[in-house]
Amino acid sequence: MSEEIKETQATERKKRIFSAIQPSGTITLGNYLGALRNWVNLQDSYDCIFAVADLHAITVRQDPKIFKKNILEAYALLLACGIDTDKSMFFVQSHVHTHAELAWILNCYTQFGELSRMTQFKDKSQKHADNVNAGLFTYPSLMAADILLYQADLVPVGEDQRQHLELSRNIAERFNGLYGKTFTVPEPYIGRVGARVMSLQNPIKKMSKSDENANAWVAVLDKPETVMKKFKRAVTDSDARICIGEGKDGINNLIGIMSAVTGKTSDEITAEYDGKGYGDFKTAVGEAVIEELRPIQERFAKYIKDKAYLEEQYRKGAEFALKISQRTLDKAMKKIGYLPK
Ligand code: TYM
Repeated sequence: MSEEIKETQATERKKRIFSAIQPSGTITLGNYLGALRNWVNLQDSYDCIFAVADLHAITVRQDPKIFKKNILEAYALLLACGIDTDKSMFFVQSHVHTHAELAWILNCYTQFGELSRMTQFKDKSQKHADNVNAGLFTYPSLMAADILLYQADLVPVGEDQRQHLELSRNIAERFNGLYGKTFTVPEPYIGRVGARVMSLQNPIKKMSKSDENANAWVAVLDKPETVMKKFKRAVTDSDARICIGEGKDGINNLIGIMSAVTGKTSDEITAEYDGKGYGDFKTAVGEAVIEELRPIQERFAKYIKDKAYLEEQYRKGAEFALKISQRTLDKAMKKIGYLPK
């Protein structure tokens, strides 16, 4: 995006959006339907800033070679999903030093009790009991820094990030309360469909790549035959009716996915598949997802080969991000009483 356009956007103050995703190697259908697809759709109406959250990713141990590959692949995959660097600012978090700096500051305005209540911390510290590091604990303050640095009005995320966003709002309000208006207090933007895509194997749990059963999640880059196999194996119930209902978590999830992918309401889907068997419905959902992912996979294959283009885009993104975020960091530091440089 040209400097001129960005600066104009900033002065006209279109509502600003910030969001980010971790480069964990497998971007799932849950990430896509819960977050990425909304990011892409919001680009025309908002001033959008997106990042690959690689600083967050080292709260669990990473293999250096694989990590490097994953960061670049996440960047390429987001472009393939439709992030357009002519419309939005898109960078890699570790390339912009203000994030780690504001995170430290915000850590000092975040209470131990607040961080202890985060369900993600409780889950992850159980899962990685041998590495309950301080970064895992203070992860939400870094997330708050990401958002507050850009004075974001809205943050498009899936349902699982709602609690972290509440905390970001509390931190912003606390800081503003102490020093006067410094940060915009952000609102979550959670889509109507796809906000919580569930595991295909245990549909009372969210779909997550960290699930040890690979049939539980679909990756955006899974081959069509793999996608189909996973949907065919999806857990359902013995009721044999394709409709939303209590105790029908598997079918509810499949209807939700079908609705998110096709844009049809759950009533329309129920009417369309009335009298059909679960096997037919699972195949239909699999086919719809394969068609949704096909163009993304084709674009990804093209982008990932063009390292020079990717480098040019993430450099440009980081340059802009630094300019905007430095203003907020300077403002916050001045309010605290730091000596100007
Ligand atoms: P991450 O990388 O775990 O997930 C990226 C986005 O995908 C959404 N998501 C889901 N949505 C629906 N159903 C699911 N099963 C599902 N699984 C994941 C997440 O809600 C998220 O929107 N901490 C963040 C990344 C981050 C961030 C930020 C987000 C870092 N800084 C600032 C917003 C603002 C995370 O780990 O998301």
